Amino acid sequence: MTDERTEEERQLEALRARAAGELAAVVTAAGLDEWRTRYLGRERGELSAILKGLGKLPGEQRKLVGQAANTVKVELERLLEERRGEVVARERAEALERETLDVTLPGRPIPRGHMHPLSRTTRQLAEIFERMGFQTFQGPEVETDYYNFQALNIPADHPARDMQDTFWVLPGQILLRTQTSPNQIRIMERMRPPVRAIVPGAVYRSEATDASHEAVFHQVEGLLVDEVCTMADLRGIVERFAREMFGANRKVRFRPSYFPFTEPSAEFDMDCINCDGSGCRICKYSGWLEMGGSGMVHPKVLRGVGYDPSVYRGFAFGLGIERIAMLRYGVEDIRLFAENDLRFLSQFR
Ligand code: DAH
Repeated sequence: MTDERTEEERQLEALRARAAGELAAVVTAAGLDEWRTRYLGRERGELSAILKGLGKLPGEQRKLVGQAANTVKVELERLLEERRGEVVARERAEALERETLDVTLPGRPIPRGHMHPLSRTTRQLAEIFERMGFQTFQGPEVETDYYNFQALNIPADHPARDMQDTFWVLPGQILLRTQTSPNQIRIMERMRPPVRAIVPGAVYRSEATDASHEAVFHQVEGLLVDEVCTMADLRGIVERFAREMFGANRKVRFRPSYFPFTEPSAEFDMDCINCDGSGCRICKYSGWLEMGGSGMVHPKVLRGVGYDPSVYRGFAFGLGIERIAMLRYGVEDIRLFAENDLRFLSQFR
């Protein structure tokens, strides 16, 4: 039997067989690309070379060879896609093999945080007052001049304003509160007596900082209003607080003072927790540590919130939280609390 195929057809068949054979041995995606360029590439591909030569053949033969070349091309493309599927699957499997997850490795430790010493002090303080029947509230740090000053009997021209250098948000109208006392007003406006409330929070004063002064610090405001309420009750509450916070033997003393929103007003001290009153560096050799301001709520303030001063009276006090934390933990510079230095903070775990 004679081979009826033309020279070109034999050439094509040989090419197909060689290409298919080589393809079966290719194992990488890069190898597939090379193979594709070699056989099917438009510029230098072997099949393209044959197709380009078609022009030289006589009409009838050109058609036959052209069809055969196309069949080979389609076949090779099909084989390429088939092989590509296998190669990709294999490469994925190998990658998975390499990336095995060792579930026995120890995890990366997540460092554990803890409460800031001021937050901790605030909580302890709130707990003590809560045990005495006080409820804890919060108030806005951006205040109006009305709540921060006027409603507390500090009119615009009052010299008491000089003691509290203010950060104004809107001069004369809106400010960063200089004290937690505006919450006395906010609370009384919202509820009827009896009132027993404390309000801890940040306060702001535009003043130079040093070891005992910061532009941002914290106070806790206390307020009690009832039909029967005296300075003796104020004293009892403050003393109980000092003893629960600093030890059962603490003594408290009251000194006459002046605040526009209380009458009479007093400042109170606690005997020095370091020397028990004999005098040391901590108490500046006075034997006493200043704790806060206080007094009986001024009748004007009561009237301002619609309380009848002939029926109700109240006392109020304000304490500095940093001061309490500094004494409790033996911190000698108030600025450490806000510096965010972990060497300092992590001592309070
Ligand atoms: N708000 C005052 C201050 O920052 C402290 C104070 C004094 C609060 C007397 C009071 C009070 O409630 O009765 O200096």
